[in-house]
Amino acid sequence: MKDEINKIKEEAMGEIKTLNNMEELEELRIKFLGKKGKLTKVLRGMGKLSNDERPVIGQMANEVRRDIEKEINNTRKRLKREIQKKKLEKERIDISIPGKNFILGHRHPLVKTIEELENIFMNMGFSVVYGPEVETVENNFDELNSPENHPSRDLTDTFYITEDILLRTHTSPVQIRVMKENKPPLRIVSAGRTFRFDDVDDTHSPMFHQLEGLVVDENITMANLKETIDTFIKELFGEDMKTRFRPHYFPFTEPSAEVDVSCFNCKGKGCEECNGTGWSMELLGCGMVNPKVLKNCGIDPDKYSGFAFGLGIDRIAMVKYGIDNIRLLFENDMRFLEQF
Ligand code: FA5
Repeated sequence: MKDEINKIKEEAMGEIKTLNNMEELEELRIKFLGKKGKLTKVLRGMGKLSNDERPVIGQMANEVRRDIEKEINNTRKRLKREIQKKKLEKERIDISIPGKNFILGHRHPLVKTIEELENIFMNMGFSVVYGPEVETVENNFDELNSPENHPSRDLTDTFYITEDILLRTHTSPVQIRVMKENKPPLRIVSAGRTFRFDDVDDTHSPMFHQLEGLVVDENITMANLKETIDTFIKELFGEDMKTRFRPHYFPFTEPSAEVDVSCFNCKGKGCEECNGTGWSMELLGCGMVNPKVLKNCGIDPDKYSGFAFGLGIDRIAMVKYGIDNIRLLFENDMRFLEQF
């Protein structure tokens, strides 16, 4: 039995030296020391030995077991070191490679336009306020004197959420909110998103942006409105720009007008871009606040009067930056956005 045990030790020690990985090492451990391993099998046969032989063989077998275990542990450490070394060599970091560039973003042309518009109006004494994009039908239509049969109230023209709640079709409901919550004198602008069931073309989008303006005080007249719009347009586009007020109809203003601005290309002379008219596309609507609207908001129309206007911000950005298609503003194409 002694010979058998020594043979097992020699065999195990010999095999260990040839191992290259952890899996083989584990296989070897099971082969010699596992429950059905070679050494274990020999020890099981110890019952047949005499009482004198048993402790001697037992001690010898334990020593061999310890030796093999020790060798297995040493080999495990060696293999670990080798694996780590190989890994480190493979994952070597080349600190001479140039770093990655971070691309710094910048503000969208629409955001720039909104900030510019707000700054111009703030310099003219206006406060900037905000209103919600999800509005009540009451604020969006009823209080603005828009009759039940007005086409813009139609289900197919407007994005309704419930019968009484919709995505605002213009920024004019902010007028109602401001007039209901504050007493004159009032002088505010409010920019934000607006939504309409409009087909997309070069100048129309179902989601677009407006800037609303409202002034209410004693003795406010159409002259104040014209002067304000004129000053604003000159401030934004330059002193040589002219404005033209065309009569129009809005239920919430009386009288009402749409404002044309000189063509930005030819400055009014007439060119291909403006079809020879000398005027750019329609940018804004305005008028004197309808006395009925003042009354709806608890403001005495005999004492106070006011004017309001609503600018299409997207179209102003288009004119300002020479963009010929409104879709470009919303497609988020980096090749387009990087130009601003
Ligand atoms: C209005 O929305 C009125 N609330 C404006 C107003 C306010 C009048 C206060 C009087 C007093 P209008 O529907 O014309 O008006 O729209 C105003 C501007 O929004 C237009 O001149 C245009 O520049 C822009 N606009 C309208 N529809 C679209 C659209 N689908 N896509 C892009 N811009 C649009």
